[in-house]
Amino acid sequence: MKIAFIGSGKVGAPLAARLAERGHEVVLAEAREGSPSVARALKRSPLLSARPLAEAVRGAEGVFLATPFNAAEAALRPVAELMAGKVLVDCTNPVGAGLTHGLDRQRSGSAFVQELAPRARVVKAFSIYGFENFEDPVYPGYGTLPAMLYCGDDAEAKVDVAGLIVDCGFEPVDVGGLVQALHLEHLALLWVRMVRVEGRSPHLVWGALRRPRPL
Ligand SMILES: NC(=O)c1ccc[n+]([C@@H]2O[C@H](COP(=O)([O-])OP(=O)(O)OC[C@H]3O[C@@H](n4cnc5c(N)ncnc54)[C@H](OP(=O)(O)O)[C@@H]3O)[C@@H](O)[C@H]2O)c1
Repeated sequence: MKIAFIGSGKVGAPLAARLAERGHEVVLAEAREGSPSVARALKRSPLLSARPLAEAVRGAEGVFLATPFNAAEAALRPVAELMAGKVLVDCTNPVGAGLTHGLDRQRSGSAFVQELAPRARVVKAFSIYGFENFEDPVYPGYGTLPAMLYCGDDAEAKVDVAGLIVDCGFEPVDVGGLVQALHLEHLALLWVRMVRVEGRSPHLVWGALRRPRPL
């Protein structure tokens, strides 16, 4: 898949590098010339290249949004029209004061992202764990992959994103329509509070365990 990353920081850089290693054509979108994070990501992986924002988005089938939530509007407005029909993977989390939901729990950040790019096919994914787990998603000895919960309204876009989730080393777990994004954002806050505030290991992920329903 041809993929553009808007945001090449702690989240964007490891995901971009891994997807490029898996054979995807990955381009880092440079919203402003001389972006320090883009320079660092290019140094980290020789498989990545950078293009100006509009050029990167124009050439992509899928776009990752991995900027701070409060930068999403500035990042997406100039390319909103170019997003039509493309898969938009929303990795952002709106975080408010005191690690509360940044939109007062009234609406999800992904709903806001969808409004910014109304014709994009938004899927929320890669949002519920810290970046450490995108750097290294390997949890030996469990017999199952870490679960990556994702949601969106477009079934075909979700199939594409499920493939990208597998490529990044996670088990894709479809939790429903984009309406579920609000709950994924709260799940992310739970992780952040457990790890960043209470000091648990950042290498903490959820697993999806299933058993057959009784007959
Ligand atoms: N950190 C985590 O563990 C984690 C985990 C899951 C989800 N998230 C979410 O993922 C998002 C990214 O987090 P992060 O930790 O990767 O942040 P980060 O390391 O600070 O990286 C932010 C990236 O966004 C770019 N950016 C900032 N303003 C921009 C703008 N107006 N237009 C285009 N690009 C812009 C930055 O570029 P420059 O270098 O040019 O400033 C940088 O590449 C956030 O919404 C966060 O809530 C974070």
